[in-house]
Amino acid sequence: MKVAIAADHGGYEQKAHLVERLAGAGHEVMDFGPMGADAVDYPDYALKVARAVSSGEAARGILICGTGLGMAMAADKFPGVRAAAVQTPEFATLCRQHNDANVLCLSGRFVEPTVNEELCRIFLETPFEGGRHAKRVAKMMACGQAMAMDRLMVMDHPLVAHKLSILRDEATPTKLFRELVQELALFVGYEATRDFPLEDVEVTTPLETFTAKRVAGKKVAIVPILRAGLGMVDGLLALVPSAKVGHIGMYRDHETHEPREYYAKLPADVDQRTCLVVDPMLATGGSASMAIGYLRKAGVDDVRLLCLVAAPEGVERVLSEDPDVRIYACALDRELNDDAYILPGLGDAGDRIFGTL
Ligand code: RB5
Repeated sequence: MKVAIAADHGGYEQKAHLVERLAGAGHEVMDFGPMGADAVDYPDYALKVARAVSSGEAARGILICGTGLGMAMAADKFPGVRAAAVQTPEFATLCRQHNDANVLCLSGRFVEPTVNEELCRIFLETPFEGGRHAKRVAKMMACGQAMAMDRLMVMDHPLVAHKLSILRDEATPTKLFRELVQELALFVGYEATRDFPLEDVEVTTPLETFTAKRVAGKKVAIVPILRAGLGMVDGLLALVPSAKVGHIGMYRDHETHEPREYYAKLPADVDQRTCLVVDPMLATGGSASMAIGYLRKAGVDDVRLLCLVAAPEGVERVLSEDPDVRIYACALDRELNDDAYILPGLGDAGDRIFGTL
């Protein structure tokens, strides 16, 4: 297995020992240092290993500082990283079986080298149990990291909750469903444009001239993922009437659940615009990730994904595949079912918008 390892001065000696043992056990070890015992700051080394694990360059990471605690706190800030500070074999086993930990953080000062060696062996050999733990890990990743990193915004406005409940109801007819999708798109668009910069402008009211504010020339492209994304476009255009609209066509392969692109047409200057990618449902995250990747290749820096209902699995995938995208959702639902539909969800948004049930 490809294992990234690093330490600080509190774990330097044990790292040298573990590097030898891991290589001896047949692992491909990526040693990120330090190569001497001088005092260093543990976050600098946690970052190297966390980045390697987060990007997939390494399958697992091992960090050693005095206690293991600082390393775990620092590494855990990275998307896709689940760092566990471990001192006993039981914890080494359970952090794999239940938490799917991918970075092991050890104490170089309070735990013997032979014990740490055993903790590494258990950590690298124990599989994740999946099942009920998979759902919990997905939730932990989606909610914890994304919100902490300000990359997932879930609306908590009472009107959004109210309208969403009507939208979810299977008895809601097509016309009302369509109207609610537009209204909710406007709400979520309002949140997604909250940080647009303002500039001063002189305005003369019927009573006096004063310095008011206006949006500082922010150019926007709304990019619906066909076909369900179309249902959100008018709501967003009501909010940003000057926006251009690009289209990306994807369909979901019913067997693999993976997306396939069949159409794309973007504004010529899309690379100078903030792109609001819209799709009412963020389920597996496959189509959204593909659309975001397409926009990145077209040179877009600022991509925001707007949806009505998101699943933890989709949030995790989108955020781990693109380090900068931000997600805005009206609700974060429980999980996906075996057919990759969101639960409780609202069914197939495209079918309900277009009346093709
Ligand atoms: C360094 O003295 C020490 O604080 C560090 O190794 C680690 O234990 C931090 O959590």
